Amino acid sequence: MQPAPASSRARRVARRTRESCAAVLANTLCSLLLALLLVAGVALFVVWLSLRPHRPRFNLAAFSIAPGGQQVAFNISDRNPNHHIGIYYDATQASVHFYDALVASGPAFSSSWYQPNMTTIFIAGRLDVVGPRTTDASWPSFDAALHSGRLPLRLQLTTAIRFRLSAFHSGRQRMHVNCDVLLSADGNLLPESVGAACDRYF
Ligand SMILES: *[C@@H]1O[C@H](CO)[C@@H](O)[C@H](O)[C@H]1NC(C)=O
Ligand SMILES: *[C@@H]1O[C@H](CO)[C@@H](O)[C@H](O)[C@H]1NC(C)=O
Repeated sequence: MQPAPASSRARRVARRTRESCAAVLANTLCSLLLALLLVAGVALFVVWLSLRPHRPRFNLAAFSIAPGGQQVAFNISDRNPNHHIGIYYDATQASVHFYDALVASGPAFSSSWYQPNMTTIFIAGRLDVVGPRTTDASWPSFDAALHSGRLPLRLQLTTAIRFRLSAFHSGRQRMHVNCDVLLSADGNLLPESVGAACDRYF
């Protein structure tokens, strides 16, 4: 093989040097870009952790069947645990069930309302009793449970909530709050039900 002329060898060396320089530069840029992305990701994650909305917490404060059995009275505490986020609620409906049988229902809040950050409010009201009637299939077990001094009822609130962070609003999400209620034979809450946490479904 003929040795390549010196000039062409120099050109080749120059080209290779340029190519490897470009590769090193691209590598460095890529590494920088990745590091920047990583830092931005971590920063976003930290911001999200501190601002992420927590759902409101509900506890049963009071519940009773009024003497005469025509109405039930309920009182639920509602805590917004967010330091900076307020919560909008749509009109809120309440109902009381004995297993599948409807006992009472009605509005808990007939219009929408706003709960500021870090506040607790009480949702209280009275509902007209509609069942079970003495002729209903569920009556014997309802009557037996009431007379045994341990009547299990489920108080349900139905609404939709939106979170607010200064001028920003989240989308609406439907929410059901279920509180387990245990009543004594005189229609008052058993001590174990007082303050019990309610479940939330979205
Ligand atoms: C509610 O949020 C506002 C705005 O972020 C804040 O200035 C205020 O201190 C908060 N209130 C409470 C009780 O944390
Ligand atoms: C609901 O319970 C709270 C705490 O016990 C009480 O301060 C409030 O007055 C009650 N609301 C009604 C309407 O009974």
